Order: sequence, then structure tokens, then C-alpha cells
Amino acid sequence: IPVQPFDYVVFGATGDLTKRKLIPALYHRFKDGQFDENSRIIGVSRSKLSDADFQNAARDAITQFVEKEYQDAAVIERFVNIFSYIINDVSNKAGWGDLKKALRDDPEVVRAFYLAVAPDLFEPIAEQLSKTKVYRRDARVVIEKPLGHDLLSSMEINDGVAKIFEEDQVYRIDHYLGKETVQNLLALRFANTLFEPVWNSAHIDHVQLTVAESVGAGTRGYYDESGALRDMIQNHMLQLLCLVAMEPPASDDANALRDEKLKVLRSLKPITNGDVAKMTVRGQYKGVSSETTSVASYQDELPEEKKGSRTETFVALKAEIENWRWSGVPFYLRTGKRMASRVSEIAIQFKPIPHSIFDHAEGAPKANKLIIRLQPDEGVKLMMMIKDPGPGGMRLREVPLNLSFAQTFSERTPEAYERLLLDVIRGSQTLFMRRDELEAAWKWVDPIREAWERSSEPPQSYVAGTWGPSGSHALIERDGRTWHEDE
Ligand code: BG6
Repeated sequence: IPVQPFDYVVFGATGDLTKRKLIPALYHRFKDGQFDENSRIIGVSRSKLSDADFQNAARDAITQFVEKEYQDAAVIERFVNIFSYIINDVSNKAGWGDLKKALRDDPEVVRAFYLAVAPDLFEPIAEQLSKTKVYRRDARVVIEKPLGHDLLSSMEINDGVAKIFEEDQVYRIDHYLGKETVQNLLALRFANTLFEPVWNSAHIDHVQLTVAESVGAGTRGYYDESGALRDMIQNHMLQLLCLVAMEPPASDDANALRDEKLKVLRSLKPITNGDVAKMTVRGQYKGVSSETTSVASYQDELPEEKKGSRTETFVALKAEIENWRWSGVPFYLRTGKRMASRVSEIAIQFKPIPHSIFDHAEGAPKANKLIIRLQPDEGVKLMMMIKDPGPGGMRLREVPLNLSFAQTFSERTPEAYERLLLDVIRGSQTLFMRRDELEAAWKWVDPIREAWERSSEPPQSYVAGTWGPSGSHALIERDGRTWHEDE
């Protein structure tokens, strides 16, 4: 369904996010007819570019970051025609007047500001928008991580934005929520009757969430300040945990859903002091070199002044949710760079059958497992026991009931940003984080990081291209369980 016409103002128009994510995402939506030449994309930044330069940059972004088969020369030309550019420094008065002139004073035209800039600029930009009357009560502002490095700094950022914008105008992106397979979690749980009755501690033994990446991190400028706990756990992984663990919301209304997620975050058992060593593991990759491969260590990738850094590139932890539904069901989370492969997946391990009648069969019944593959090879797999066909008595075998998205659907899977950018225009906050959620997540994560900082132990090292340090395996094996891929 096409959206209302809009003026999308992108601050940080020359940055990486704009080029890699925003422009390609908007292009796809334009190409699919979700908006047309009645909408405008207005780039704002300090660089002295013209409209034509910015249009060229948009063309380049499409050539570089949109798959060849979707690059349509005529559509690209129509698309870049809606791009214009304004030179503006936050402190530069002239730029704001130009911006005001570029915007249409029509209440039917949605006004959105995407702040693809460092968070310390959010407040000054918001203030200028207000002072120069570019702000409108129905305008929307989009911001994204890093929204702080701890609870306090995140509150400061949110306070800064809140001086001008009301919470119903603020769209905090966690791009994981825009992923098709993440939204599918809602469909799986709440559009089927099958799972919900068994979705609790009576039937589920434990849950595993894995977001593994094969790429490294040491050359990414921001990463060393952040580390895996802030970069992945505080946001993406806790959001996934919430979607798996939350109670059914009464509707798909943004606040109904966010209320339920918040309750989960607030039910997380704090991991403090003495528990941190027992419940968490942090790691940092070391390099490998053999005849066939050579991968640098995190330390080797870092610039000189950062050598010796104790930033974690891997985290595994055991989270517990203290509520009726999940009491006694651990959620094991792990994420890391330079792991054995790129895979994001949720494994729901059910409890074993209460009584087996197969004492004389070959192969013991294994407990069911539901594996939700978020990326790549998106799909849902239910591991079940069946009788191996053929004569020779009862032989039990575990086989997957396998739903592969690629085999089931022929459509291209849209990128997260495509959905999120247009949800801003639609005024739908369902897939965006509310302030209290963000703060509850920091509140849980902060004591873990603080304990690490106090500890004299460095992160455990793991060899690049493996599943993380030995401590990660020990963490789960202590409970008599194993990581899903270890079986
Ligand atoms: C970002 C992190 O939020 O998510 C990156 O900052 C990470 O470090 C990325 O690589 C992973 O996103 P995706 O969509 O590739 O799984």
C-alpha cells in the first residue's frame, strides 16, 4: 500500500549509513511503487555538495549496494530526481533557512528527520529544528544506536531529544526488528494455536539465541569503544529475547507490544558481582595462520594507540526471566565476531517425553527442538522423532519438519530498513524501541560491564573461525546442555 507523500530529511547525508542502507532501502520501496515523485529526500550535511552531487552519490549507492537484477536505469533516474541537498552545520544559521524553504508546508506531506549522525548532535539539531520552526508537532524523528554507552548516557541522549520531540514522535531503530524473520516470530507465536500452549516452563527446557558473524571488528572505528555487550546484546539480542519470551499482547498496537517487551526486560534477573563470572563469558579473537588461511587477531587489526584493548568481541551469557511462564528456563545468549560462520538463530529446546515406550527400539527418543533461522537460509525447522521406514522393527530417527523461506516464497526478502523507513511515514512505532525499553535493557547490561571492568581477568581468547572461547562451552555444559551446533 503506497504511503502518504513525505519530505524525508536525512542529516548525515554523506555518511556510510545513508549510502549503504538508507538509499538502497528507499530505492527498493520506490521501485515497488510505495511512493512516487510526490515525495522528497533532502540530504543535509556540512560537505559542500550540490543537488546534482547528491543525486550522483545516490546513483553510486544504488550501483554499489543494490543487487544488479534490481537496478533499473529508468527507475533510478526517476528516483534520484526526488533528491536534493542542503549544506548545513548545526551552528550555521543560513543552512536552517534553506531547509525550511525546501520543506512543504502541507499537513498532508509527512515530515521526517533521520538523524544519521553522532548522538551528541541529536539535541543541538532538535533545538535548531525547533528554533527555526522546521519542527512540527506531527513531524517524526528517527535515531539509532549507539543510544548511549550506559544507562546514564542513554538517559541524557533521550532527555536531549525529548526537549523538543514527544515520545510518540521518536522512532528508535533497532534494525533487527525490521528483519522479516524477526517479525515472523510474532506470526509464528500468535498466528498459530500450536505453539502457545507449550510455550512455557512446563514444556520448554531452555532457549538458545545465537547471533554469530564471520567478519572481524578491529578495523571498525567505533567498535573498540563498544564491544559485543553494548553492540549486540543490549539491543538486538535482548529484543529477540523479548519477542520469544513476552506474553501475547492484546493487539499489534505499538504500545501494547512494547508494554509486553518491557515486562520481560524488567523480569530479567540481575546479574551482579559474584554472578557475573558464573553467568557470563567474554572473549576476544586471536588470529590464525596456516598454509590456506591467514586471519589477523583483533589486536593486530587495532590501530597502535588501541593495542592491548580488552574489548570483548564475543559474549555468551545465561539469562533468567523471573516470572511465572519462564521460571527455571534459562535463555543462553551468545554473539561474536569472527565465528565459524554467519548465522543468527533461535533454538527452543523442549523437554523430553515423560515416559518412553521404546525401550526395545533402536535409537532413543530425543526431545523436540524448534529452530528458527533468522539469517541466512531463513526458515523454521521442527526437529521430530519418526520411525525410520522399513522392516526390521522400530528404529527411531530425528528428522526436521523443514520450512525454508527460499523454497516456499519466490519474492525477494526486503531488507530491514525498507520496512522501518516507511513505517516512520506510516506513523507506526510497533517495530521501534520505546525509551523505557531501552533504559531497562541498559539497566540490566550495565552491572555486567561494570563487573568486567573491575575484574583483573582479561577476555578469554578464541581462535578466529571457531565458536568462541572454551568458557562459552563450559557455561552451558555446566548445566548439562550443549550449544545447538555442538551436537
Ligand atoms: C549492528 C552492529 O547493529 O549489527 C554490527 O553494530 C553488526 O557490529 C550488525 O555487524 C549486524 O547486523 P546484521 O543485519 O548484519 O545481522
